[in-house]
Amino acid sequence: MKKTYLLFCTVFFLQILYSQEPFIANAYLRNSTSLNGYWKYIVDPYENGFYNYRYEPFENLKPTGNGAFFTNAKRKDFADLVEYDFDKMDSLQVPGDWNSQKEKLYYYEGTVWYKKSFDYVKKDTKNRVFIYFGGANYETDIYLNGKKLGKHIGGFTPFQFEISHLLKEKDNFIIVKVDNKRTKEGVPTLNTDWWNYGGITRDVKLIETPETYITDYQIQLDVKNQNIISGKIKLSGTTKANTNVVLEIDELDIKQTFTTDKEGRINFKIKNNNISYWSPSNPKLYKVILRTHQDQVIDSIGFRTIEAKESTILLNGESIFLKGISIHEESPIKGGRSASIEDAIQLLEYAKSLGCNYVRLAHYPHNEHMVRMADKMGMLVWEENPVYWTIDWNNSKTYANAQNQMAEVIHRDKNRASVIIWSMANETPTSKARNKFLNQLLQFTRTKDSTRLISAALEIQEHPTLPNTKTIMDSFADAVDILSFNQYIGWYDGTPEKCATINWKINQNKPVIISEFGGGAKFGLHGIKEDRWTEEYQEFLYQENLKMLSRIEQLSGMSPWILVDFKSPRRVLPGIQDNFNRKGLISEKGEKKKAFFVLQNYYKSK
Ligand code: GCU
Repeated sequence: MKKTYLLFCTVFFLQILYSQEPFIANAYLRNSTSLNGYWKYIVDPYENGFYNYRYEPFENLKPTGNGAFFTNAKRKDFADLVEYDFDKMDSLQVPGDWNSQKEKLYYYEGTVWYKKSFDYVKKDTKNRVFIYFGGANYETDIYLNGKKLGKHIGGFTPFQFEISHLLKEKDNFIIVKVDNKRTKEGVPTLNTDWWNYGGITRDVKLIETPETYITDYQIQLDVKNQNIISGKIKLSGTTKANTNVVLEIDELDIKQTFTTDKEGRINFKIKNNNISYWSPSNPKLYKVILRTHQDQVIDSIGFRTIEAKESTILLNGESIFLKGISIHEESPIKGGRSASIEDAIQLLEYAKSLGCNYVRLAHYPHNEHMVRMADKMGMLVWEENPVYWTIDWNNSKTYANAQNQMAEVIHRDKNRASVIIWSMANETPTSKARNKFLNQLLQFTRTKDSTRLISAALEIQEHPTLPNTKTIMDSFADAVDILSFNQYIGWYDGTPEKCATINWKINQNKPVIISEFGGGAKFGLHGIKEDRWTEEYQEFLYQENLKMLSRIEQLSGMSPWILVDFKSPRRVLPGIQDNFNRKGLISEKGEKKKAFFVLQNYYKSK
């Protein structure tokens, strides 16, 4: 009895924690008021602004008291004791991480409080107002005018809260507690090979909507018929039922009115024979308008189909080889977490100059600029959930967290033609608990979006009987649509010469993508090709790997590790790494290494 009650509480708690319905559809293009810019901050390693000296959360105390930073207390008179003052503090840029902005916060992992004051006059008093965050790493508590709005867990997906009931015309203050401490039960967990940038790392904005507004829609090509546009629309608000919604796609002569059911939902199919299909060589986006008598959203959507047929990937029914590269979300312009459209364009331009038609956004959902620019620039995209290495597989909170992050990125990007693959995980050790976790996540993803392919970056094994033969012995390989794996022959596994000795025995009749291979090189360091860290070693490694991988019959694509050298606290070799993983084909200063041209030539030949 006690056990069931506990389980019920956990699930109920997880429901509240992770259900921030309703979402706001197309927050990226909706009219909004930006709260980006300088925010005051307080570094609070002991979380002194959240807990009292008995480590009880101030939130649960009545009265809350002056100690709680989220009240933004000000000294009222001589006797009043207030031991903090946001307005006298230094500022941090939002969006942005704190590690690359402040030398003293370079290694900092813990809590930082942010405060922003603002005035806001609603366009219409009946309207609703939401505060929207593109993302904040990792655990975020949000307060408006001293009241708790809610909490979000996960560093790479958007979240929003309705603030209509708390908003004033003048002197509002939003206070955000961001804690990027790594935890065993976290997603990702304690150990990663990237810098754990903390902060409000993506855009913050206020979005005003009518009382009943368009909260969700997916408009894509029917998976079975390229001449059918099928979709779902959902309204939220008191007049969501029996409401007309007009769908307009001028260039396709589409203007149709649908009526919502009592739940405020519409499912539709529209036949059209004039669609110009989205592809890397034709990144055609259509202006799509959804309008009700109160609300309107305008989006730009490309129409394409993506399938896996036996060992081939079909884009719009035609076989395609994914000429890719892996990318971390780090600004190639100023370092630190990338957050701007300029960063996105720079990274995708680099990939274009390599001859890519595809990018793997590793190991977590990147900011929305990346997928919006991929749509515009004609770059196919792999998006990944940060289920990385040794996650706490048996922990239901950890699973709910991973599932929620998947739900949030699908909600944000399900109308992006560029996004073709959802990846469940990276390099996770096989076990019963892990398989259950990943299969559950895969099933959940299929229910949320049946139009895209599912994969995961798996690991290779030695073939049990065939010498010098690599294979995949992972039951999750049977569940995915695309079989992907990381392999480091020539770097962690021997030297480049070893490639010539390796055979591959892949039993699954599925498309194979090499999600990672590569080796480190310090730009400008030259020597013989046998000398690690030289550009010649990396060049040789690429030459040998590309020859070796071409021996895989089902090879349908690759995303070598990695486009640009990136920060990692695991990389400490002085004079070479200096906190950079040096497997980039381009240095952090934008300098192209010799291996860059090996891959560029290979893609030219493809
Ligand atoms: C792993 C991992 C990456 C890591 C890379 C490396 O395969 O997926 O996150 O950076 O190897 O060791 O460089």
